[in-house]
Amino acid sequence: MSTVHLIDHPLIQHKLTLIRDKTTGSKDFRDLVAEISTLMAYEVTRDLPLEDTEVETPMGVAPARVISGKKVGIIAVLRAGLGMVEGMLRLIPAAKVGHIGIYRDPETLKPIDYYCKLPKDVGERDLILVDPMLATGGSAACAIRFLKERGASSIKLVVLVAAPEGIEMVKESHPDVDIYTAAIDKCLNSHGYIVPGLGDAGDRLFGTK
Ligand code: PRP
Ligand code: URA
Repeated sequence: MSTVHLIDHPLIQHKLTLIRDKTTGSKDFRDLVAEISTLMAYEVTRDLPLEDTEVETPMGVAPARVISGKKVGIIAVLRAGLGMVEGMLRLIPAAKVGHIGIYRDPETLKPIDYYCKLPKDVGERDLILVDPMLATGGSAACAIRFLKERGASSIKLVVLVAAPEGIEMVKESHPDVDIYTAAIDKCLNSHGYIVPGLGDAGDRLFGTK
């Protein structure tokens, strides 16, 4: 069964409060989402395997450790996931980046996919799927299915705000995928928006409303 990791680091919680604030404009919103993503990257990579090595310092040889195991891929769900990529790359600069285009039909709230470009060795990478909002869970479940259909077997989902409904949907449809979130909110409203949430993440990032 998926594990849900609620990341309650004080810096993340403080910055999350700022992006929830309806008076925060697009530039600050973008900067804060990037900063939170860097901090989330730190938490989500906590279990990367290490191997022993040695390093020569100016004073002698030190036993040391380096990251081993699979390479990392960051997969952004368009559009809003784009806002999380740069922040993640700051800590994982060698990661390859993939994009999956999905939007919700405003009437049915069902995910509609329109784009997919992934690193060709996606099946051999540890994947971090990023999207700020996990609402009904339809978009995340669809993106995870896309990745699995292309061979992915190691996927973590990183969001900033999750609704209980979305968590349940991902747990049920993809029990092998762990979820990392900075907040679990109360519910969805009748339009499928997270309450209290932060509004429409894509529009707030890119100033399209
Ligand atoms: C938002 C968000 C997620 C999705 C979450 O994207 O970035 O991808 O909604 O909702 P769900 O869990 O109910 O599927 P949106 O559909 O607004 O597309 P956009 O990022 O292109 O604006
Ligand atoms: N997508 C968003 O951007 N915000 C929500 O609250 C729900 C879906």
